[in-house]
Amino acid sequence: MQQSENIYLQMAETILILGACGQIGTELTQSLRLIHGNENVIASDIRYGEDSFVKEGPFEIIDATDRDTILAVIKKYEITQVYLMAAMLSATAEKYPQKAWELNMNSLLIILELAREKHIQTIYWPSSIAVFGPASPKINTPQDTIMNPTTVYGMSKLAGEHWCNYYHEKFGVDVRSLRYPGIISWKTKPGGGTTDYAVDIYFKAIEDGKYECFLGKDTQLPMMYMKDAIDATIQIMEANPSDIKVRTSYNLAAISFTPEQITSEIKKHISEFEITYAPDFRQDIANSWPQIIDDSKARTDWNWSHEFDLESMTKEMLKNIQSSMMSM
Ligand code: SER
Repeated sequence: MQQSENIYLQMAETILILGACGQIGTELTQSLRLIHGNENVIASDIRYGEDSFVKEGPFEIIDATDRDTILAVIKKYEITQVYLMAAMLSATAEKYPQKAWELNMNSLLIILELAREKHIQTIYWPSSIAVFGPASPKINTPQDTIMNPTTVYGMSKLAGEHWCNYYHEKFGVDVRSLRYPGIISWKTKPGGGTTDYAVDIYFKAIEDGKYECFLGKDTQLPMMYMKDAIDATIQIMEANPSDIKVRTSYNLAAISFTPEQITSEIKKHISEFEITYAPDFRQDIANSWPQIIDDSKARTDWNWSHEFDLESMTKEMLKNIQSSMMSM
């Protein structure tokens, strides 16, 4: 065999994405297909997503808590990497605590076991700022600090992080993870999160010229534009294993803002836009989370840096939502 073919074989990955029709899964699948080729990225979800996206490459219906089906698909496509994006987010999880725990924990334990049994080589699993709690420092929240999550979602993510670290330490499983802030996107909307207002607000600004926010005007939370989140995810997965020094999950940050700050940014483009505030149960969740995250460890270990600030993200969001509405 030629040396060049050898190098190609070493780098070739066959990827399974669980939860591919979700907010992050959709764009992650599209980006990974551009890098690895449509045929090498198998999208899966518990339901069919938007038709065109599903048809762009292989798609399987998978319940992320169904080990037998996951293993059958891994064998069918000779999968090397799994991105486990299926989860119940913070606000929905407070309504269905047992279900959230079962989905968020069982899916992870299944994938970790499949890696220990050598059916797959590498795992990506997202964690969240929800691992922090009321006693964690709110400003420049360090990588390692007091963590006392008060939501079921946060509890599942914190426990999951330690399972990842355990499987890495005990069994050498190559599992990589990021603590996502609120992710802002226009292609697929999030569902059931506390940071969802920062997506809804852009759609409502364009559709109705007004928005009723479920968080108070001064609630500052860490956020990130989708492109940065996808870049970070692919970057940590492409990093040299020896550069990944944190095997629980890395703090990851880009921007932090309040509903009032995002409103004034939107008003620069839509001057008649109006916001009203009607905080609900999600206010308590937001109050328990950090406001600004210190992600210097990710920046040092594998050279993470973000691209979008509030101003450039707002321009992109408004432009893309407007043009997607026109093409409908
Ligand atoms: N965006 C998530 C949520 O609000 C946090 O990880 O639940």
